Amino acid sequence: MEKVTIRDFLKKKEKKEKIIMLTAYDYPSAKIISQTNLDGILVGDSLGMVVLGKENTLKVTMRDMLIHLDAVVKAKPPQLIVADMPFLSYETSTKDAVKNAGLLARHGADAVKLEGGEEVRDVVRAIVRAGIPVMGHIGLTPQRFLRIGGYRILGKREKEEEQLVKDAKALEEAGAFSIVIENTYSDVAKKITESINIPTICIGAGPYCDGQILVIHDLLGLSDFTPYFAKKYIDLRGLIRRAIEDYISEVKEGRFPGKEHYKSRDS
Ligand code: KIV
Ligand code: NA
Repeated sequence: MEKVTIRDFLKKKEKKEKIIMLTAYDYPSAKIISQTNLDGILVGDSLGMVVLGKENTLKVTMRDMLIHLDAVVKAKPPQLIVADMPFLSYETSTKDAVKNAGLLARHGADAVKLEGGEEVRDVVRAIVRAGIPVMGHIGLTPQRFLRIGGYRILGKREKEEEQLVKDAKALEEAGAFSIVIENTYSDVAKKITESINIPTICIGAGPYCDGQILVIHDLLGLSDFTPYFAKKYIDLRGLIRRAIEDYISEVKEGRFPGKEHYKSRDS
């Protein structure tokens, strides 16, 4: 597979072909993804919760992001690699935002993603001007859970719906190449998708978007908690636990290590 670029994302929207993404945070999963036709990998700040055991994404730092981005980049996946800008890496000033986006690009990100709509317009514009593609993220923005009042669905009231459309348009106008829409009603996501020319990638926002994204630990059945909109395609937790239990009993019963697993000088 040839390296996927942001132009391929835009072409897919034009051709009405679905854009399919997953998160990934480490070398082995990025290696496996490399052998598939997935379009993009998001090194999401969800890594704080799913791999580092933190309570929320406010606790994720640039250092966390760079460590996991490096691991994904080392697998040299042909997919577009998008790295999340963590909390406080883009809110303080456009200068900080450009520097931090630049750091992610220097570490091998093909694009960065940051949360927010109209309020991040200038930041998006500045990062794009520096030559780094930006993916927007609207709807439920987990880094703002305190202000939103938890992890609730957005777009219920007319005012909220109107704001989401305005946010999407502001991001497009600022130069974003695509937008993640998280946790909103499917008709709202449809309306947003139809009102902009850049692709929408949805999670918990229904089927009328230009693409879909899932957290890989949800898909694999490795998460503590799977939201209703995520589909578990395999129960890896169960499989892993069974493998560990098999190992324990084989060692106890003297069945592991077997002859093929060790060398002896008397045989
Ligand atoms: O961090 C993440 O995994 C995300 C996706 C849910 C879009 O931002
Ligand atoms: Na994220």
